[in-house]
Amino acid sequence: MQNNQKKLAVIFGNPVAQSKSPEMQMQFGKNVDIELNYLKVLTTLPQFETSLREWIGKGIVGANITVPFKEVVMPYCDRLTIEAEEAKAVNTIRIEKDGSITGHNSDGIGLLRDITEIKGIDITGKRILVLGAGGAVRGILGPLLSHKPASLIITNRTFSKAKMLAGEFSHLGEIKAVERDDLMGSFDLIINGTSASLQNEFPPLPAGVISSHTIGYDLVYGDQPTIFMEYLLSEGGRAAYDGLGMLIEQGVYAFEFWFGKRPSIEGVLEIFGRASYAPFYDQ
Ligand code: ATR
Repeated sequence: MQNNQKKLAVIFGNPVAQSKSPEMQMQFGKNVDIELNYLKVLTTLPQFETSLREWIGKGIVGANITVPFKEVVMPYCDRLTIEAEEAKAVNTIRIEKDGSITGHNSDGIGLLRDITEIKGIDITGKRILVLGAGGAVRGILGPLLSHKPASLIITNRTFSKAKMLAGEFSHLGEIKAVERDDLMGSFDLIINGTSASLQNEFPPLPAGVISSHTIGYDLVYGDQPTIFMEYLLSEGGRAAYDGLGMLIEQGVYAFEFWFGKRPSIEGVLEIFGRASYAPFYDQ
């Protein structure tokens, strides 16, 4: 394939109509002079493999994979990156020259790039609290630990799930599960990985967990600050961010994974109706 030929990529999802990945990825393409056509593919669980093979046949360089196919795609991958293995989910695939499929997960890397490079928050040697123990949290623990925080505490409504995750990742660094009511001392960074925000619900944290140096980060994003962000600021936290930066940076990383070039994010915020990149919601 010639370099100047138009490239093709897709996102598989259900639903997928709401996805802004096509506009975002095509903007990345413009930013590095790669002509990219990126389409949404709505498929179903029984049809997924057929659809995947069909698009590989059409010459896609790769694809993003979203709900509900992030686990479903794994058996079709010929190899998985360490990030995909740790996350037990694939959100990006790359079709290699020989037609084989490499499965990757850029969510955790995207989060860490947003926190450390875009927001400029240094987490090495810091105290981090992660709320939740579902799929979203599983994907971020490895990348978080690779930045060597002083401690990473994980808590969850169903405590056994937090304990299990802490055990699974303990070989990578200082990680411990603590019951919500037993949390002690203040944290430098609190990441909300629960879906409680989506239900507009946020159970309070014990006194002292949030202090004037605490930064909050919600993995979800929307037009308004989430209930977690509002809670963190109302309790005297320093700043609160939503997950738009993570979404954009995981996209940047996926693009880089396909094309070997890191695009600038110029013109991407506008796609999401945001005026400035960071901080989104700062005191
Ligand atoms: P995702 O893929 O988004 O991580 P998930 O795997 O269903 O979704 O995980 C959702 C997480 O949000 C879980 O940690 C869940 O807690 P439980 O393990 O106890 O179910 C958490 N969660 C959802 N609603 C919540 C609520 N109202 N309060 C606290 N935690 C909540």
